[in-house]
Amino acid sequence: MRSAFIALVLALVPSSRALSAASLPAADVPLVQCLKNASLDPVVQGNPSYLEAVTPFNLRITDLRPVAVVYPKDTEGVAAAVICGAKNNVKVNARGGGHSYAAYGLGGKSGHLIVSLDNIRHLSMNGSYATIGAGNRLGDVALYLWNNGKRAMAHGTCPFVGIGGHAGQGGFGPASRAWGLLADQVMSMEIVLANGSAVTASSSENRDLFWAARGAGASFGIITSFTTVTHAAPDSTAFSYTFPNYTAAEASKGLLAWQRFVGDTKSPLDPNVGLELHITPGGKNGAVFSIDGTYYTADESSVTKTMAPLLKDLGPHYTQSFTKHDWIHGVLSVAGNAAHTIDELNTTNRKDSPERFFATSTFVTDHEPLKAPSAEALMSYLYAPGKPSNIQWFVFMDLYGGGRSAVTSRSADFNAFDARDALYSIQYYGTFLGNVSSSAGVHFIQGMKNTVEDNQNATFKEYVNYIDSTYSADVAHRKYYPSHTERLKKLKDVYDPDRVIHHPQDFS
Ligand SMILES: Cc1cc2nc3c(=O)[nH]c(=O)nc-3n(C[C@H](O)[C@H](O)[C@H](O)COP(=O)(O)OP(=O)(O)OC[C@H]3O[C@@H](n4cnc5c(N)ncnc54)[C@H](O)[C@@H]3O)c2cc1C
Ligand SMILES: *[C@@H]1O[C@H](CO)[C@@H](O)[C@H](O)[C@H]1NC(C)=O
Ligand SMILES: *[C@@H]1O[C@H](CO)[C@@H](O)[C@H](O)[C@H]1NC(C)=O
Ligand SMILES: *[C@@H]1O[C@H](CO)[C@@H](O)[C@H](O)[C@H]1NC(C)=O
Ligand SMILES: *[C@@H]1O[C@H](CO)[C@@H](O)[C@H](O)[C@H]1NC(C)=O
Ligand SMILES: *[C@@H]1O[C@H](CO)[C@@H](O)[C@H](O)[C@H]1NC(C)=O
Ligand SMILES: *[C@@H]1O[C@H](CO)[C@@H](O)[C@H](O)[C@H]1NC(C)=O
Ligand SMILES: *[C@@H]1O[C@H](CO)[C@@H](O)[C@H](O)[C@H]1NC(C)=O
Repeated sequence: MRSAFIALVLALVPSSRALSAASLPAADVPLVQCLKNASLDPVVQGNPSYLEAVTPFNLRITDLRPVAVVYPKDTEGVAAAVICGAKNNVKVNARGGGHSYAAYGLGGKSGHLIVSLDNIRHLSMNGSYATIGAGNRLGDVALYLWNNGKRAMAHGTCPFVGIGGHAGQGGFGPASRAWGLLADQVMSMEIVLANGSAVTASSSENRDLFWAARGAGASFGIITSFTTVTHAAPDSTAFSYTFPNYTAAEASKGLLAWQRFVGDTKSPLDPNVGLELHITPGGKNGAVFSIDGTYYTADESSVTKTMAPLLKDLGPHYTQSFTKHDWIHGVLSVAGNAAHTIDELNTTNRKDSPERFFATSTFVTDHEPLKAPSAEALMSYLYAPGKPSNIQWFVFMDLYGGGRSAVTSRSADFNAFDARDALYSIQYYGTFLGNVSSSAGVHFIQGMKNTVEDNQNATFKEYVNYIDSTYSADVAHRKYYPSHTERLKKLKDVYDPDRVIHHPQDFS
């Protein structure tokens, strides 16, 4: 039906124009003309740099073909691009660091106009506030803050992740229990709306927009800069307790012990502790269980004292390590192999390493903690012999709540991020090597999550920055914004009535 309609339309236009429109030579498309007229130098199909411009971080999703990618240098350029898209009925998306798990920085569907923020990388300080161009990556931001008065913020661990998607949709890291999500540390932002107007959103201007764009930032315009609070950068002690010889049964008891420990209201955990539980392939029995963390301001003896009650429950067979860092070496340390020297946190002249992967998540709350059947099923799955060896998987649990955590002590409606009741997140992640098919890989990772969720009678929320590419918009809203969807839909009608800024899980 649809192709018959297209054939009819093509029959009505002169054939040379129909052909050239299909192969998209730049000058023939009104959108491209509009972009060129605005001096935006669009990269389109056929251009030598097109393929590189449309290669996502997630190499599982390589079929997206934007109609054009532009690299504006300033807010006016962003506004001109959005107006060109709107005028020509082409959907528009921002791309920050390009790290969306679903490649939504390329629109999530072919035919969109992509506004890359790569050339908007200004950074400045005014007192303790930082103003950050939306094209910056986390490594550059951390390095700049450190070099300008030893300042810091809480944010995620990968230096190449962009501040645009990260702060726009949450942004969790080791210091978040102390300072909050990156979105929570934003004081104001400049946003180009769907009609091309650039506005400030803050607690005193466009408050609704400010609320929405800190949690559902991909749906309300293109953020061009963030002004954030910063904090004096503390030293830290990184610690790790590794249990390489656990069986699945011991690991499941270990998970439940960890859950009791972090949720213990009688002996609440200092918010200066960032804490994770990791399960990775290896060890004697197929997987390695470890508790890793960062204790800001404290030394090794405070770590030992704080962790003692948990370690008592975890048994005597572990190895441990402690490393004292200044702040920036702490940032480097959690970046893993992504950077080896402080200078390598500067991403400007470095290449990222894309991978073919799938990931998804579960938020566990105090009121619906995991019960033994879920923990047992998860560990049996992860420790099982015969797991595909060509999937590099991990399961990471990040502590959000507990004690006076700055994430969960903010009110449920502080901003659009909709999981202030999270005790911890579980992220299930797999990189597919060699010839493992993407569908087999996705299936294996989804199996992890099913062990947790199918054994429990609860509705779990999920983390939108671990966006699951398999969800319809309705499912995504229930997982990411269960109590905020209605408000977000109304605001979408106000700020983007024609759905100019649009992706597959958008509010429509
Ligand atoms: C290796 C790796 C490590 C990670 N580690 C962490 C972690 O430690 N903690 C954590 O919380 N998350 C982490 N993440 C997830 C990360 O926070 C998200 O993928 C985030 O959305 C990426 O932002 P981006 O700008 O790089 O991505 P993009 O793909 O560019 O953007 C993501 C989404 O945000 C939109 N967007 C981007 N910029 C803007 C803007 N300026 N205005 C409006 N919308 C915009 C895009 O259109 C897209 O929908 C990690 C991801 C990866 C791949
Ligand atoms: C070209 O850009 C100018 C502003 O630079 C604008 O006035 C004019 O309308 C644009 N023309 C088209 C066809 O987009
Ligand atoms: C710096 O911050 C002060 C107070 O918050 C403000 O009055 C001033 O305008 C800011 N300066 C710049 C250059 O933004
Ligand atoms: C990163 O390096 C580039 C030069 O290669 C420099 O212009 C930029 O200021 C550096 N960024 C930071 C945050 O140090
Ligand atoms: C794990 O088991 C091996 C022997 O199989 C042993 O050498 C090692 O010390 C054990 N590790 C720990 C942390 O107990
Ligand atoms: C994948 O590659 C391995 C060798 O590396 C081979 O044994 C296996 O049959 C291949 N599987 C598929 C599905 O092609
Ligand atoms: C799950 O909840 C439903 C409705 O509340 C209830 O009928 C059912 O018995 C519960 N199942 C389990 C396994 O707890
Ligand atoms: C753009 O939209 C905003 C929000 O609806 C509105 O306040 C503003 O007046 C609009 N700007 C123009 C130029 O229409």
